[in-house]
Formats: sequence, C-alpha cells, structure tokens
Amino acid sequence: MKHLLATDGLDPALATAVLDTADELKHTLLGREVKKLPTLRGRTVITLFYENSTRTRVSFEIAGKWMSADVINVSASSSSVNKGESLRDTALTLAAAGADCVIVRHPASGAAQRLAGWLAEPGTSVVNAGDGTHEHPTQALLDAATLRERLGSLKDRRIAIVGDVLHSRVARSNIHLLSALGAEVVLVAPPTLLPYGVESLPVTVSHDLDAELPAVDAVMMLRVQAERMHGGFFPSAREYSIAYGLSERRQKLLPDHAVVLHPGPMLRGMEIASAVADSPASAITEQVRNGVHVRMAVLYHLLASEGAAA
Ligand code: CP
Repeated sequence: MKHLLATDGLDPALATAVLDTADELKHTLLGREVKKLPTLRGRTVITLFYENSTRTRVSFEIAGKWMSADVINVSASSSSVNKGESLRDTALTLAAAGADCVIVRHPASGAAQRLAGWLAEPGTSVVNAGDGTHEHPTQALLDAATLRERLGSLKDRRIAIVGDVLHSRVARSNIHLLSALGAEVVLVAPPTLLPYGVESLPVTVSHDLDAELPAVDAVMMLRVQAERMHGGFFPSAREYSIAYGLSERRQKLLPDHAVVLHPGPMLRGMEIASAVADSPASAITEQVRNGVHVRMAVLYHLLASEGAAA
C-alpha cells in the first residue's frame, strides 16, 4: 500500500489485513509498561492539519511514536500556510525536508488525492485524515476494528448510520468499508441530510429511527456538522434531536447485544443522551483506543510491510 486515501475501492483483503495487524499490535502492547516498537525507527511522519482535530491528530502522533517514527505536527494556523503558501508548495516543502509520510486533513474534498499526485515524484506516502465531506478512511477502519471486537465477523451484520449523513466523511468511508466487509448498512436520516445520489450507494435508506433500531447489530450516531451548513440547519436542532437523537427511551428498542458508536466529538443531549454514551453498550472510548492501533497498522502497511510500495 502506497497511500490510504479512501475506503471506496479499498481491497477488502487489504482492509482485513490492516485490521488483523491492528489487532496483533493491540495484543502485543497489552499490559506493557513501555509501549514502544522499533518498526519505524528512522522514518519521518508529518501530520498536516488544516482543520481542527483531537482524536485523529493525537492518535496518529501516538501511533507513530509507539512505532519509533519521528513525528512532526504541522497545523495550518501556525505554519507558512498563514502567509498564503499553497497546499502543493507546503506538501513539497515537507517532502523535501524528509517526510516519508504526510497525514493530511483538509476542508476540501479531494485534497488528499491531489497531495498524493504532487508527492508521487519524491515518493512520499499520503494518508487522508479527513477531506471535506468526502472520506475519513482511518475512522472507518477503527470503527470496523471496534465492531469486530464486539460482534465478531461483520458478515450480514446490520449497521445503522444515523443523522447528518450529507456532511459526513465518516459515514461515506463507513458505507464503503462496512459493505465491503459484508455488512448491511442502513442510513437513517432526514431527507435534507442525505447526499444527492444516495441511491447509488450500497445502502438502504430510512427516515424512521424507532422502526430500525430493533433489527440492528450496531448503531453509529454521527456528529451534526454545523460548520458545513452555510445555509442554516434544517431540521432545527430541537427537531433533529427529537427525531434522530439516541435517547434512553430509544436505546431500549435496541437488541441487548447491539453496539453504540459515535466518531466524536459528540454533542451530548442532541445527537446522543449522556446516559447512552456512557452505557455498557457504548464503544465510544474503545473506538478512540482502537484508533491508535489501527493507525499504527496503517503506518506499518505504508512504510514497513513487504507490500509497502505497491
Ligand atoms: N473522529 C474524528 O475525526 O475526531 P477528531 O475531529 O477529533 O479528529
């Protein structure tokens, strides 16, 4: 694997190999006081973030450090981007400085793909850490890792993705990955928060959350992305919460084994009730923990495995 830009088109065998590596790394490090492997010693990983992040940036940094890579964080707000430097010039500068891998988050859909094109010549790997409303592949991989831990195989598991699907790169990446791994995905959202062309995705669509919950193995609540709703938020926050929020009453409609996910950051009380987010059914903290091991596995497959340059 040379880059990780999307789950759309990602070979399910490669996705499974990354998940298996993540699982192996997790078990290798379990209970160890010093979480450090020599695998990426001498390699340089740079995170380049043009949008805010807590989980993704921090877990990539920890992942790189636990594998002994040199990790450097560049945020647009404190770099020469603020002086008007383009994404292309910034990326070429990082490659010239010695980056083996650039992990990029950018508000423009397609930015990571462009970066991979520009960095083909220096041979620097690119990971998409979220591009606009397009994709967030490592989030989908860590979600799949978490679901595999809780449910075993994802084959024929029914997973509801609920809420602001329109603006969600997490939803898009999960739709492609989960369906490639054999799960059935149902999108539950108001008509105004579904993307144009939803019929072409490997999903079914519902607008009735109460009707869907009794038949799912997992429910993935999405963040409402107010920052991308330039024309205002319809339905209103109150209407959204009533129709699509995962309340305590709604949690009771779920089967006992069902898992509750949220990529974070959460709007407690609106997207999900606090009591649900903190309940035993919730795997939200596990998602964050698995994010480190999945990102270690991604760096391994990009920079250290036999198929790294393929
Ligand atoms: N889930 C996710 O991408 O979180 P951050 O924005 O905190 O990285």
